[in-house]
Amino acid sequence: MRYLMMGVFFAIVAPLAFARAIPDPAQKHAPGNEAPQKPIAQAGYGAAVNYQLQCAGCHLDDGSGSAANDTPNMKGFVGNFLKVEGGREFLVRVPGASQSAMNNAQLADLMNWIMHKDGIAGKSVPDDFKPYTEEEVASVRHQVMLDLPGVRRGLIERMRAQHLAIEDGVSR
Ligand code: HEC
Repeated sequence: MRYLMMGVFFAIVAPLAFARAIPDPAQKHAPGNEAPQKPIAQAGYGAAVNYQLQCAGCHLDDGSGSAANDTPNMKGFVGNFLKVEGGREFLVRVPGASQSAMNNAQLADLMNWIMHKDGIAGKSVPDDFKPYTEEEVASVRHQVMLDLPGVRRGLIERMRAQHLAIEDGVSR
């Protein structure tokens, strides 16, 4: 009986507790916050902010990623893709990059920011790295990769053939 009454009590209280999370349709914007949010492609944020907003959720602040979530380590490693055939395009074609809300110029800017010697790619950036341009990003971005893991495996094999250390956190 005691349990039954507790059950009835929670059955009444629980919906009220959940109801607090339901937005009020008549709610007004906070003063000064009435303008609709600008789309990312028009917001004019710098690369570091775009990285925080659109990449760091999975890749983490320092680019170290998370093996548990199959997100590779980019820190001190991602520049190695520039040393193998097909790798340069691959980095722009991965869904996280190609399908982000940024325009082509912003995505090029962000890739170049990642490729700094004192940035995420660090020591892995090749000395002859040529920055990505808006035009280059535009031309490869929408080439869909049907077999991403297969393409990536092939690129990692090419790195191994060059005796590069595979410090991506996800390959064994
Ligand atoms: C929802 C999680 C997620 C977000 C957000 C995300 N990525 Fe990724 N990223 C991944 C995963 C997982 C991989 C591994 C390949 C795959 O499955 O796409 C990856 C792979 C990559 C790679 C290739 C590295 C490698 O070793 O294969 C690059 C470069 C990359 N992401 C850049 C970015 C950039 C730049 C952004 C932000 C604009 C971004 N990603 C946003 C999850 C994410």
